Amino acid sequence: MPDLICYCLRVEKPPIVAAIEAGCASVEDLSACLRVCTGCGGCRPDLEDMLRFYRSESETSVTPLIRPKKAV
Ligand code: FES
Repeated sequence: MPDLICYCLRVEKPPIVAAIEAGCASVEDLSACLRVCTGCGGCRPDLEDMLRFYRSESETSVTPLIRPKKAV
């Protein structure tokens, strides 16, 4: 099972990614939302990595690629 992130709560990667994209910004947010990291805590480093990766990805995806021209 390659996508299993939280072994204690049996939570896989897709719902965690969805929760991050829906606004969860910390491990505590994910714990409140999905109960991940409420057992042994061993998944915390993976969750922190996922938060860094998916939050930075969403921040860069909203950056406009072309700046609007100034009105003359
Ligand atoms: S692996 Fe997530 S709480 Fe234990």
